[in-house]
Amino acid sequence: MSESSQHPRPAGKGRGRFSGRIGYVLAVAGSAVGLGNIWRFPYLAAKYGGGMFLLVYLILVVTFGYVLIVSETTLGRMTRKSPVGAFRSFGDKLSLRFGGWINAVIPMLIVPYYSVIGGWVMKYLYEYLRGNAVPLAEDGYFSTFISNSAVVEFWFVVFAALVFFTILAGVKNGVEKVSKILMPLLILLAIFVTIYSVTRPGAMEGVKYFLIPNLETFSWMTVVAAMGQMFYSLSIAMGILYTYGSYIGKDVDIEHSTTQVEFFDTGVALLGGLMIIPAVFAFSGGNMETLKAGPSLTFITLPKVFASMGAGTAIGIAFFLMFLFAALTSAISLLETSVSTLEDELHWSRPKCCLVMVVVMLTFGTASSLGYGVWDHFLLFGMQFLDFFDFLTNSIMMPIAALATCYLILRVVGFARMDAEVERSSQFKRKKLYHFFLKYLAPICVSIILLSSIANVLGWISL
Ligand code: PHE
Repeated sequence: MSESSQHPRPAGKGRGRFSGRIGYVLAVAGSAVGLGNIWRFPYLAAKYGGGMFLLVYLILVVTFGYVLIVSETTLGRMTRKSPVGAFRSFGDKLSLRFGGWINAVIPMLIVPYYSVIGGWVMKYLYEYLRGNAVPLAEDGYFSTFISNSAVVEFWFVVFAALVFFTILAGVKNGVEKVSKILMPLLILLAIFVTIYSVTRPGAMEGVKYFLIPNLETFSWMTVVAAMGQMFYSLSIAMGILYTYGSYIGKDVDIEHSTTQVEFFDTGVALLGGLMIIPAVFAFSGGNMETLKAGPSLTFITLPKVFASMGAGTAIGIAFFLMFLFAALTSAISLLETSVSTLEDELHWSRPKCCLVMVVVMLTFGTASSLGYGVWDHFLLFGMQFLDFFDFLTNSIMMPIAALATCYLILRVVGFARMDAEVERSSQFKRKKLYHFFLKYLAPICVSIILLSSIANVLGWISL
């Protein structure tokens, strides 16, 4: 969910501003908390080693994640531009243009498949509203639903239409105001469901699996997946934070806000994991097949939890409604960023830019929604369309976008200017650490991870 009410984008009237640090933190946390925390994080953690995945993820969040959030926000505030403009402020070299565009294109590729998952959430909400809590919890419900391409496509289009409507009708602020109330409620409900889940018989095994790292479950894919998830969940390496940084005042303490955003987003991801992974153990007996269910995990597991609660329909409605708002506001921020980039860079009218995005959405979104059904024989590098777009953006493009930011700072902007910008508002407490990570760890590790995930997908190595 985003907080665009506080990051207005008044065309031609100078740049909007957040109302201070709290406004900024809420906006970034809002964009960060979405499907990534409750849908993507739990299934990746379940699939890639539980506690080991969590450990790698946490290390990445406080190292690369931290460095990249500070960098992108600082560059945004320094240049007062979105990514393409921010890179261009430092010259018109091809490498800079590429750096800006790769950051800007990523949201355009994410929003179509994000809307497909948003459609799944709507379908589940609709079924709960019709009182179908019991069938939703039955084995095989999800796989039957997902293979029915007409239904999946229908809900994708409904969700996508809602996102466009919200942006075009200018009711974005209204949606975000509502979500400001619903988000804290979602977190409270998630805490309640978590407590229920972890106290089910057999759930403790799942809690252990999720929280205690076990070296045996480590694979290189754990690192690749954790890094992609870190980018995705914190909304980094996709231009969003440049844009948000460009809206903050010179008085906002960038380090402090970054810590708060990371805390918030990781807290909700932990809740997502604790709600779902122990429940897999309790309701499916720790069946490894279910643990490896992938993108369907949340949709298979939560209905079982709700059904066993007795008041499944009411909780299902409440949960999926709030989940829908979290997804909707994140999708709005993805689409809004995409449209703004097109407007700024191509100087086209807003309706024309929206039209371009309608085409992009329909093309890639339809491929993603049909990929699990009638088009399931079309595989790209062994993946269905949705998994492919997810992999392409998170494991290939975002590392490249992150490298572009490192390059910009190391080769063009220089630490002196970065430090000065951060220090305009506060002391730069972790300056030495920041330099060290950005100079050595980030570029080297990101390159290794990137190359290995490309080699893996091309079948040169097996991770
Ligand atoms: N971080 C969001 C999530 O976890 C996804 C997102 C990325 C939303 C970028 C907006 C912008 O769901």
